[in-house]
Amino acid sequence: MERYQVREQIWWTGAVDWNVRDFHGYETPRGTTYNAYLILDEKVALVDGCRDGFGPEMLARVRDCCAGRQVDYLGINHVEPDHSGALPWLIEQLRPVGIFCSKKATDALSRYYGPETVDGWNLRIVGTGDEVGLGRNTLQFIETPMLHWPDSMFTYVKGSKTLLPNDGFGQHLATARRFADEVDTSVVMEEAGKYYANILMPYGSPAQKIMSKIQELGLEIEVIAPSHGVIWRRPEDIRRILGAYQSWSTFQAPEKVSVFYDTMWHSTEKMAMAIVEGVAQTGVDCSVCRLNVTSRAEIARLVLESRAFLVGTPTLNSNVFPTVGALLSYVKGLRPKQRIVGAFGSRGWAGGVEVRSCLVQLS
Ligand code: FEO
Repeated sequence: MERYQVREQIWWTGAVDWNVRDFHGYETPRGTTYNAYLILDEKVALVDGCRDGFGPEMLARVRDCCAGRQVDYLGINHVEPDHSGALPWLIEQLRPVGIFCSKKATDALSRYYGPETVDGWNLRIVGTGDEVGLGRNTLQFIETPMLHWPDSMFTYVKGSKTLLPNDGFGQHLATARRFADEVDTSVVMEEAGKYYANILMPYGSPAQKIMSKIQELGLEIEVIAPSHGVIWRRPEDIRRILGAYQSWSTFQAPEKVSVFYDTMWHSTEKMAMAIVEGVAQTGVDCSVCRLNVTSRAEIARLVLESRAFLVGTPTLNSNVFPTVGALLSYVKGLRPKQRIVGAFGSRGWAGGVEVRSCLVQLS
């Protein structure tokens, strides 16, 4: 089993999910990883778990790196089941003496796994600024509520200058490589953008607060090791992902127009293509996606990365086309801001849907 060293005393002990293609409705064509990190110091700490079914892979990596040493502590940054699903089994195997999480996490863990199980874990509630010494390293906890759940938390490993931000700065990307500088930058940034758009876009304001908090705490960050995808370790990669989060969380976007449409008998499609042709003639970047062949996750990424988007729909049963209705519902939930939006559409013998209703549905 190959070992992946992140820092002198930090090891990657996660699992790779090569085959997941639907992550609670978010299409993941490149799979994902569930990253956990082991800090081998005078005390041994594991931060984060993994999805149910991946526990044995993670446990094997932990035991391989520990070489017989006991895991003293477990940090739980986030309770969503892709990180906590295997915890009941892992805790049974590892029996850490201290398990740390936020107050909201204790409530959620009890609801997921039952108070009879969770009460036996003897959870210790931690909040921003609380610390646990390991030896040369210290775990420092930073609550990050609504990035993207109430329980969410980052763990900063003082001594190793490593931030473990769980879902923050992650990407759904399965690879045999562990570091961003070992894979194609354009692929990593595309997946990081897609991840932000689909998971974090509604929480721009909490994201801004957390970015400010990191600065206020004066954290020196030499590695950002998220719980999905690859790890950021080169200064230029850290600057790139922090800069992207700064732009995304303040809803800045390049001068680009994206056109999303569906069509019955190609009338709306003709309109979509005419719009794209017109935009292209102005020199502004544009793209066009037919909904029945484009994933929702990709469309969310284009909403994030376009200053304007237009929605085109035919009329069906006096209403918007079903794929368009589904898109409007999804995009509205992501709460994009500072975007120019427009709608267009075609209709036949039965009158037609009021295309402006698309904009009403988005507002
Ligand atoms: Fe990766 Fe919010 O779970």
